[in-house]
Amino acid sequence: MMKRILVTGRLPQDIMTGLSKKYEADIYIEDKPFDRQKLLQGIKNSDGLISMITDTVDEEVLDRADHLKMIAHFGVGYNNIDVKAATARGILVSNTPGVLTDATAELAFALILSISRRLVECDKITREGRFRYWAPMLFLGREVTGKTLGVIGMGKIGKAVAQRARCFNMPILYHNRSRMSKSEEKELMAKYVDMKTLLSQADFITLHVPLSDQTRHLIGSQELSLMKPTAYLINTSRGPVVDEQALLETLRNGRIGGAGLDVYENEPALTPGLVELENVILLPHVGSGTLETRFRMANMAVENLIAGLSGKVPPNLVNPDVLSHRRL
Ligand code: DGY
Repeated sequence: MMKRILVTGRLPQDIMTGLSKKYEADIYIEDKPFDRQKLLQGIKNSDGLISMITDTVDEEVLDRADHLKMIAHFGVGYNNIDVKAATARGILVSNTPGVLTDATAELAFALILSISRRLVECDKITREGRFRYWAPMLFLGREVTGKTLGVIGMGKIGKAVAQRARCFNMPILYHNRSRMSKSEEKELMAKYVDMKTLLSQADFITLHVPLSDQTRHLIGSQELSLMKPTAYLINTSRGPVVDEQALLETLRNGRIGGAGLDVYENEPALTPGLVELENVILLPHVGSGTLETRFRMANMAVENLIAGLSGKVPPNLVNPDVLSHRRL
């Protein structure tokens, strides 16, 4: 009998066709989040799930998932999945690391350049016909070259941002749970510092930590108050890493140079007041949003799913403890 799978987001057509040939596949093809009730219903008969970051896969879902063997998550961050509860039930969970590193680092850098050179504001006035003359002091931004970059979270994406910063001769300060090796520090020309030093000395602070109980509101009013009045905060990780209300107040008071955000605390809702500010750039969570990367993520999720459903170990398993009691 064919295994049943539930896919909660539209993937490239070839990949969806391949899945439908191999499995009895229920694929949701609209570009808005999969309905919670449908997830609770659909999971009942599924052997496999390809989940999106907009699905909350918690105990309520897992309690209904009597046949579920594998959750192949489409994304590197999997804070939306209760991995502990999945592991307790013998369900494998995988993610899609590595393939979105460059795209996300590119976007972080795009935000660094856009906020400091006021690209969005400049585009707006030009479109509105307000570019009437050139003048030496109009629309001045701040230079990126030679400024200090602070990287919080020096995993794959943090390192990729640091590599790009080298082209702009930016000295790099970083903070991470663990230090890099001496040779890696040398290669990236990055100096390990405590949070306080990083926050008070960096001109650009870019966040690359996963969301966990330890990183929720890692950046709050206290941390923001340590930043230089000209510094910029860039967040392409997860919204709740930043206390958005505290950031709003800091930006509103012009206490820092500005912020570039791709993610939000209560996504897709924004803290009221944020959209009125000019010293912030707001993007709709498109860090990994390139054609190339989304293809790679889809292929990787499918590869994990197939391995998990055929009794093998998925290449990107995030809960190896499950292997001793996995459901087969
Ligand atoms: C991820 O993979 O975690 C991204 O945020 C989704 O694009």
